[in-house]
Amino acid sequence: MQTYPLGTSDLKVSRIGYGAMSIGGSWDDTPLTDSVRKMALQVLHTALDAGINFFDHADIYCNGKSEEAFAELWKESPHLRQQIYLQTKCGIRKDCFDFSKEHILEAVDGSLKRLRTDYLDVLLLHRPDTLVEPEEVAEAFTILETSGKVKYFGVSNQNPMQIELLCKYVKQKIFFNQLQLSITNTGMIDAGINVNMQIDRSINRDGSILDYCRLKDIVIQPWSPFQYGFFEGAFLDNPKFPELNQKINAIAKDHSVTNTAIAIAWLLRHPAHMQPILGTTNPQRVKDSCQASGVTLTREEWYQIYLAAGNKLP
Ligand SMILES: NC(=O)c1ccc[n+]([C@@H]2O[C@H](COP(=O)([O-])OP(=O)(O)OC[C@H]3O[C@@H](n4cnc5c(N)ncnc54)[C@H](OP(=O)(O)O)[C@@H]3O)[C@@H](O)[C@H]2O)c1
Repeated sequence: MQTYPLGTSDLKVSRIGYGAMSIGGSWDDTPLTDSVRKMALQVLHTALDAGINFFDHADIYCNGKSEEAFAELWKESPHLRQQIYLQTKCGIRKDCFDFSKEHILEAVDGSLKRLRTDYLDVLLLHRPDTLVEPEEVAEAFTILETSGKVKYFGVSNQNPMQIELLCKYVKQKIFFNQLQLSITNTGMIDAGINVNMQIDRSINRDGSILDYCRLKDIVIQPWSPFQYGFFEGAFLDNPKFPELNQKINAIAKDHSVTNTAIAIAWLLRHPAHMQPILGTTNPQRVKDSCQASGVTLTREEWYQIYLAAGNKLP
């Protein structure tokens, strides 16, 4: 697994991160079960063995149980905490988004408790809160930084103007923006390819977030790298995408890796130096995904996959 300095931070992270959204079992308020704990540990050890050292969480994942399940790792291997990077997110509450100072501080304390650690490497604001008062976010970030509870900060699902607004007040650099991106979810790429055209793909829905992040050295963390739509399922081996799967399978054969590896290699090939966040709970798929770190797609292969997903070049 390749590691690289993440953006302009001093974090030396794996090119691929693991997202713990689904390791806590159910999303209701039932407690964590032993079988879920066991499955979580199995997939986490597979990720660690494959060289992943960066783990993504959110306070809401499985109603907090994903963070709790993750903390099981320290029981057998307390030394691991110093060897890996932990990122979590806050700002989503039931039926509302909340970037108030009070909520951010409370949410971080909750995550620290569930993760059984005294610091987070990274905190992201999860989804834009239209009632945000950036001065409050600034206060919260400064408290978290000076108390040593959080080292680095970032956002998720935000457009350039939202980040600019935040940066007017927040002293800390925004290092990350976690955004939905997969071979079948390429809005941020399409608009840049089809500039100023009378077609749907030309519509700039995100304020040119891809170029903005590159310009500002903000690392994009693609979420749902295997899914199409909004959590509609994997596109790999899915009969809804025959041409795409045929192309991916052929390229996978040429590189002697699985189709899973190619889906991730396609994201890694983009020169924006993205860090895809895997969410599969299947250990074999985690291993397969990590093979992507050793694959560099050619420019032609990258575009062939893009076109096979149903896109067109102008
Ligand atoms: N910032 C945000 O708003 C946001 C939103 C969503 C997610 N995230 C983060 O991103 C991470 C990844 O998201 P995700 O879990 O939606 O992503 P994902 O890795 O694209 O999708 C995982 C889902 O697809 C299935 N899958 C993956 N590969 C497959 C294959 N080859 N064949 C069949 N099924 C396959 C998985 O099933 P198996 O488990 O059975 O493999 C799982 O149900 C999350 O864990 C979370 O950390 C962030």
